[in-house]
Amino acid sequence: MTTSTTAATALRVQRIKPSPSTAAAQRVRELKAQGLAILDLTVGEPDFDTPEHVKAAAVEAIRRGDTKYTPVNGTPQLRAAIAQKLEQRHGLSYSADRIAVGGGAKQVIFLALMATLDTGDEVIVPAPYWVSYPDMVLANDGTPVVVPCPEAEGFKLTPRRLESAITDRTRWVILNAPGNPTGAAYTADELRALADVLLAHPHVQVLTDEIYDEIWYEPGRVPSLAAVEPRLNDRVFLTNGVSKSYAMTGWRIGYGAGSASLVAAVNTLQSQISSCPSSISQAAAAAALTGDQDFVRDCVAVYRGRRDVTVKLVEDIPGLSCT
Ligand SMILES: Cc1ncc(COP(=O)(O)O)c(C=O)c1O
Repeated sequence: MTTSTTAATALRVQRIKPSPSTAAAQRVRELKAQGLAILDLTVGEPDFDTPEHVKAAAVEAIRRGDTKYTPVNGTPQLRAAIAQKLEQRHGLSYSADRIAVGGGAKQVIFLALMATLDTGDEVIVPAPYWVSYPDMVLANDGTPVVVPCPEAEGFKLTPRRLESAITDRTRWVILNAPGNPTGAAYTADELRALADVLLAHPHVQVLTDEIYDEIWYEPGRVPSLAAVEPRLNDRVFLTNGVSKSYAMTGWRIGYGAGSASLVAAVNTLQSQISSCPSSISQAAAAAALTGDQDFVRDCVAVYRGRRDVTVKLVEDIPGLSCT
């Protein structure tokens, strides 16, 4: 038997690359450590601090002794807080067994793909996309099917493009709205038109990544597919988290709501991977979701101001325009 000092990596690792955004963020950290002044636009990370009442809830959890394993799918308190948010925002009703909690939306999305993809299963990824989706699909033996969504179409998937991308092997469509990197979001009518296509293809599930749902500058709330078309409710895996809305990127709490069978499969994987997310972070996330929401409103007002300045600056550059 021969031994090797270099780890032989599996094909699934050879197929993917390290997350480009986290690699770029690391480079920024290194340059900042050298004293360079850098404006970091690499990852979607609020420059605000986590609200004080959220930090206090975490400290309280430590003092109470909530420092042990929790249920695999998160504490009942956190799942109740998530269910309450989905009910209040979208009128969607999720029982506790239809909610999965994980170490960030990123982990929840990864686990959902891991739980459902077999070799060669296809996942439709509208482009421009968050850099992680195709690699997450590849890491789980799936095939990303990238569908270009040009600026002329608002960087959005159209029913026609969706229809022509669906094959017998399609397992998922990923819909990220408001989307990273373009900010594009779908109106309820646009979602209904996509839903009409999806209703004709019952083998296709939809992973909605709603992590930026609070960062919304239009009146009302950004529409969510599961609410727009209740007949798709069990085929939609709605993912979200506290990272962006509550400046909690380091706490690593995200969640997914969908069919009980998918959530059970995600939980089975999680039980073998991390057992559960951090008990302390879960207490903090529950406080964020149920507590005072002024922080969110204040941050969005600041983001809106920055957005307005940026759009104007870009449009003042000859030859450039900004959707
Ligand atoms: C579109 C999108 N989805 C998910 C995530 C991951 O969020 P979390 O911190 O909850 O893992 C990000 C983070 O940048 C993102 O941009």
